[in-house]
Amino acid sequence: MPAQSMEELVSLCKRRGFIFQGSEIYGGLQGFYDYGPLGVELKNNIKAAWWRSNVYERDDMEGLDASIIMHRMVLRHSGHEATFSDPMVDNKKNNKRYRLDHLVKDQKADVQAKVAELMGESVENFAALVAALNANPARASQVLREAGVRDAFSGEVGEWTEPKPFNMMFKTTIGPVADEDSYGYLRPETAQGIFTNFKNVVDSTSRRLPFGIAQIGKAFRNEITPRNFIFRVRELEQMEIEFFCVPGTDEDWHEHWLEKRLSWWEAQGVPRSKIEILDVPKEDLAHYSKRTYDLMYDYPTLGHEEIEGIANRSDYDLGSHTKNQAELGLVAQVEENTDSIAKLTIPHPETNKPVVPFVIEPSAGVDRAMLAVLSEAFTKETLENGNERIVLKLRPHLAPIKVAVIPLARNREEITTVAKAIKAELQGLGLGRVLYEDSGNIGKAYRRHDEVGTPYCVTVDFDTVGKGEDPALTDTVTVRDRDTLAQERVKISELGGWIQARLR
Ligand code: GAP
Repeated sequence: MPAQSMEELVSLCKRRGFIFQGSEIYGGLQGFYDYGPLGVELKNNIKAAWWRSNVYERDDMEGLDASIIMHRMVLRHSGHEATFSDPMVDNKKNNKRYRLDHLVKDQKADVQAKVAELMGESVENFAALVAALNANPARASQVLREAGVRDAFSGEVGEWTEPKPFNMMFKTTIGPVADEDSYGYLRPETAQGIFTNFKNVVDSTSRRLPFGIAQIGKAFRNEITPRNFIFRVRELEQMEIEFFCVPGTDEDWHEHWLEKRLSWWEAQGVPRSKIEILDVPKEDLAHYSKRTYDLMYDYPTLGHEEIEGIANRSDYDLGSHTKNQAELGLVAQVEENTDSIAKLTIPHPETNKPVVPFVIEPSAGVDRAMLAVLSEAFTKETLENGNERIVLKLRPHLAPIKVAVIPLARNREEITTVAKAIKAELQGLGLGRVLYEDSGNIGKAYRRHDEVGTPYCVTVDFDTVGKGEDPALTDTVTVRDRDTLAQERVKISELGGWIQARLR
């Protein structure tokens, strides 16, 4: 059974070194997390699985790693300067700030119902309720007070201001200049690095439509209320594809990617039955989107929340970054861009005339993927002897440690020498991390490796080195299976192949 609560996951992540609070020794920094020794392995394995599936196993994809800090004009013409904001309200009594929709959602049911009633909306259609509050800030401020909306910090009814948009981009100065215009933005999505490099990739690879560009990297959002552990953070990582296609074929490609992405999640141990597909209502679409499917994973404690968005961005971005948009008759409804120097077009595969392609964008969060993968793998079992064990039943390709090699006696050189040689040999097979584990007794080592999801523990004992009771066991080791707990004696000479076959 997967994790029942977020607390179980948070506790495991801290205890076993997956995830720590950022800047913890100075009291922590809200919305920032550090990935520890096992977290970095799991994260890298998730990213590698994504890259393998979306870049190496396809013939219509290129990779990219663009810079994080971007020219302010990129984020102006992408529409982020004007629209990448969330509604914020302040409580004048204690100067605490809240994201409007989070504030209302966190109220008791009767208070939420009162807010909806006063606005002439329903709680069931929460998006419309938030839109109505946003559209009439003066009324919203009145309604929040009248409905008795409480401040989570003080527990009292707040003196709420009118909601106002808060832009979530992090601005940064560039170079030592005092000039007011010498600033850029930390990208709020990796996507813009792909759009701005579209022409470079086309020219350097001779790609023709349809094809995609994939990128994994950090993005930054100054969230008003970061929360729920790594679910909503200010420094996040995204795995994004911009798939460029001929206008008119975009809707078919949108369906193609929806299917592809659901099967990818399944292969990571996140089943379709736990993902709801939300066809995002028109009024909730991002400024660039023609249509978006949000994949809503059933997170413990949180319920269904977005793990990935698959958007049809039409020709909005390439159009917006293109010089002389009018000449090209673009769909993008943006002001004429006189700052750009590029014409982001590609020959139409049939007519050869320049065309601005449409874009399908599957965009998944690495941090949210970590949470979902951990949640699905988390298992509590009662063993035959009545003991309880926690085991992470991760798919082997995602396990942070593939094999732990354990010497039964850590102060017996004949045993440790063989164990170290086995570790080195297995490591050389390119399986991922193989750990030489001599930090406790065998029972504790097994428990620790169950909890971090190590698929196999290999134990080197006295029999292995010909000093046990059964000479037939010389040059063999015990291999313990994480999930079945079965123990098998395997010849050292066959161990590499035995493990490789099972980790595939
Ligand atoms: N380029 C499109 C884009 O950025 P998005 O829906 O804003 O779309 C895509 O973000 C994904 O990034 C989300 O589905 C989510 O997995 C992840 N994400 C977004 N904001 C996040 C945050 N504050 N913390 C963690 N992950 C986040």
